[in-house]
Amino acid sequence: MIYENVLETLGDTPVVRLRNLLPRPQDRIYVKLEGTNPSGSIKDRAALHMVEEAERDGRLAPGSTIIESTSGNLGKSLALIGAVKGYRVILVVDPKTPQSVLSYATSLGAELDMVDRPDADGSYQAARIRRVGELLLRHPGAYSPDQYNNPDNPQAHALRTAPEVAKDFDDLGALVATASTGGHVSGLGSALKERFPSLHVRAVDAYGSAAFGHSFAPYKMRGIGLSWQPGNLHTRYVDSLHRVADTEALSTCRVLAREEGLLLGESGGAAVFAALTYAAEHPGRPVLAIAPDTGANYLYESYDDMWLAGHGVPVDVLWSTSRDLLRHVRSPLHPPAEPAHAGADVRTTAEGARA
Ligand SMILES: Cc1ncc(COP(=O)(O)O)c(C=O)c1O
Repeated sequence: MIYENVLETLGDTPVVRLRNLLPRPQDRIYVKLEGTNPSGSIKDRAALHMVEEAERDGRLAPGSTIIESTSGNLGKSLALIGAVKGYRVILVVDPKTPQSVLSYATSLGAELDMVDRPDADGSYQAARIRRVGELLLRHPGAYSPDQYNNPDNPQAHALRTAPEVAKDFDDLGALVATASTGGHVSGLGSALKERFPSLHVRAVDAYGSAAFGHSFAPYKMRGIGLSWQPGNLHTRYVDSLHRVADTEALSTCRVLAREEGLLLGESGGAAVFAALTYAAEHPGRPVLAIAPDTGANYLYESYDDMWLAGHGVPVDVLWSTSRDLLRHVRSPLHPPAEPAHAGADVRTTAEGARA
């Protein structure tokens, strides 16, 4: 297949069925591998749609500057888009950002602005947003996608990701998707509930995240969760919420790598752990977990025993075989529950975006 530029390779990501890591041998659990997108994550979809919509209505002029707060994957996506389309890209990052992400972004020509003082709650997210505000004042005409509130983020998934799922499945019992900005769980949930009327949408958050209104406490997983409730998290499309603990997600990552050959990022481990829990509760229903990025982003961090131990997770607290993990799946540390409901509708058409 020949493409005119690397951005055209976005999407049509593969779906792989689990073979061994199953509560029962007949269970049908599938994982959509968003790490095969051009910069290595699901964020390519939201980033490209936000940029293209801003170009379309004049918020982003040719050759201008894009400024965004990101702890990782959105920054890679914007760096890639900037390189292809000729924008200057300034990324506001923090010390939790994986080195592989920083190196990727600078290799593609993006500039980094490091926030080094955390908020009172120990997270850096609010500090990063404040810094974006300062930089926007210094760069008149610059565009900030604001992934937390921009409706083009969930819309990217309603318009592009959901049709891929609808094409692959005749029947789907549950969609299991992680949340940070809420973009993919909201966009996929809204569109796929129309296609599969009895679909159960299970959102997955990090235990410690405040995205669904719980109080914030620091956690280790990257990419998933938030220290506040984002505007793009539309819980009306969410039937249940599973708050997965670090040890559950990291154990799942390791078992998936060794026993399924699937090297997923930390949030992908959380999604698969939650999918296994759902499947154990609902025998016979096909379940799709969304794995937002590849474990290649974390090879020298959460896949490295020394790094993990140095960050407060000695490997002997993790389950290392599917047998141990599956026993735990039946009694997760924080059982799934109904979320508190909030949020507006996701736009499912390209028109009328900000009318
Ligand atoms: C690795 C990873 N997992 C999960 C998410 C959550 O996705 P969303 O922002 O669509 O809620 C992100 C978002 O940046 C991510 O990078």
